[in-house]
Amino acid sequence: MADIDPVASEGTVKYGILKTLEDITPAVLKAMAPAEDPRLREVMEAFVRHAHAFIREVRPTEEEFERGLEFLNGIGQTTTDKYNDAVLFCDVFGISTLVTMLANGMGGPMEPATALLGPFWRLGHPITEHGASIVRCDTPGPQLHAKIRVIDNSGKPLPGVDVDVWHASSVGMYDVQDENQIEFNLRGKFITDENGSFHFRSIKPVGYPIPTHGPSGAILAAQKRKPQRPAHLHFLAFKEGYKTLVTQIFVADDPDIERDVTFGVTPQLMGDYKRETGPAPWPDVTGEWYSIDHTLVMVPGVATLPTPPIA
Ligand SMILES: [Fe+2]
Repeated sequence: MADIDPVASEGTVKYGILKTLEDITPAVLKAMAPAEDPRLREVMEAFVRHAHAFIREVRPTEEEFERGLEFLNGIGQTTTDKYNDAVLFCDVFGISTLVTMLANGMGGPMEPATALLGPFWRLGHPITEHGASIVRCDTPGPQLHAKIRVIDNSGKPLPGVDVDVWHASSVGMYDVQDENQIEFNLRGKFITDENGSFHFRSIKPVGYPIPTHGPSGAILAAQKRKPQRPAHLHFLAFKEGYKTLVTQIFVADDPDIERDVTFGVTPQLMGDYKRETGPAPWPDVTGEWYSIDHTLVMVPGVATLPTPPIA
């Protein structure tokens, strides 16, 4: 910090006059150096180094640079309280999954069963009785009985965990995307019992196309990518003293299981959705139905809630 200009306000650094192409990167790094927050300094230094290296590699034309800026602005302009193109952009380029894997110790001694949050989690899921249905309006589909157990990484059942469950309908849309569904259809909040368990009724999830009306969708089309996610249930488990678990449970025989547009599928996230032909747990169901029995594992840590991508 020796070069801080005592005359300039707020300690602005003098970085000199740029004489060559090589001078620009160190100049920007020097200009940012007075930042007091060490993490901000670290993140922004890396950002500038990588961004400058990227530009040196691809040498964008001025027209391409303008298109890139339009693309970035478009992400913001398309985002509303019901749709988040920034989340979608990070999802479809593997950024969300990479952040999730690194933040949850993937590659470390214990492979965690975590997944990206996705753009459709919202606050205020209605608290739902064990055994009740989260189908809150007419929504066709094979009936599903889900039994979920939450344990810690030593195998001890965790009572009193708040677990949000949400998934798309049989037409592949979440409540907020579909005027034919009422609020919080296919969503519920369950609180685990003394055995760390809860169960609920729903319909078997189906795969769905992600929204493609924004810039993220446009670039997928240009790359000839199917904007499809394999079928899954979403979970967010919250309990003080434990790292909040965000995960998904996939339907293993979904035809798109190996080409999730958001790169979310790992072996730890496969669900065993079983086709059942015996008596269903509900008297109104005859014929086939599905069951899943799944265990979620939480690790000790700090309980925080993510910022909801939509209102
Ligand atoms: Fe989803």
